[in-house]
Amino acid sequence: MSRPHPTTEATVPLTIRRDAGCEEAAWDRAVAYGIGESPSPPDPAAPENLQLTCGPRGLSLLARGPQGEALVLHLDFVHGKQGYRLAHATQTREELARALGHLPRGARIVDASGGLGRDSLVLAARGFEVTILERHPVLAALLADALRRAHAHEPLRTTLERIEFVHADACSWLERHETAFDAAVFDPMFPARAKDSAVKKEMRILQQLLGPDADTDASSTLVCLRRHVRRRVVVKRPLHAPTLGDQEPAYALRGRSIRFDAYLPIEA
Ligand SMILES: C[S@@+](CC[C@H](N)C(=O)[O-])C[C@H]1O[C@@H](n2cnc3c(N)ncnc32)[C@H](O)[C@@H]1O
Repeated sequence: MSRPHPTTEATVPLTIRRDAGCEEAAWDRAVAYGIGESPSPPDPAAPENLQLTCGPRGLSLLARGPQGEALVLHLDFVHGKQGYRLAHATQTREELARALGHLPRGARIVDASGGLGRDSLVLAARGFEVTILERHPVLAALLADALRRAHAHEPLRTTLERIEFVHADACSWLERHETAFDAAVFDPMFPARAKDSAVKKEMRILQQLLGPDADTDASSTLVCLRRHVRRRVVVKRPLHAPTLGDQEPAYALRGRSIRFDAYLPIEA
């Protein structure tokens, strides 16, 4: 079965497909965010470019790159590169945790740009209590499904118990909740560079899904995050990218290709 679904946040058309072996629990994640129950009739004009599939491995997003190559986004916190990264998350090399400063284990962090969940998982593995906020329904579904599957993996259970996942826009959610956070991390989408072939496949598929105007509100999101934390907000940027809006960070930590700009709170 395949039908178009106009996502609520993105203007990019998407088709969905339920294959044999798709678990009810995985399909439920798509339905929960309104993806699986689009009432729209099949639209023959909709490009078959982006497809959300549910199969035996759970939810995946499929796309075609500019040269027609297949791009797949499948989140898996247990196996492969992400599983490896998580296993090694306690090493001081994890720059994001370093940029957060000396926060004690158990500190409460809000990740205002859940995306693929990678930063959140690393932070939770370090002992922080993490609230993940992701506003895009397709990414929210992929993330919720990956977290669900990872829960079945005993060695990850303690880490996952420190994670709360919410499908919401960060600012709207923070305005409605009284939760006090020690810090926030924010990694908004950055416009595609000219050297597009250098952009990793996963980022290319994200760019297709979110469109060219993704996260253009990042600067105002940063202001709002600074109003809701006690200690600091860390923004992840490409190494040579300008800072967000006209806000000057208190300090910046430079990695090989990424920069972490740390901001202090401002009065609410
Ligand atoms: C570059 S990705 C983040 C990748 C993530 N740091 C990781 O480790 O996988 C940016 C994501 O942030 C989300 N996002 C941006 N602004 C947001 C906001 N104000 N509230 C919730 N999600 C937001 C976008 O929808 C997108 O999925």
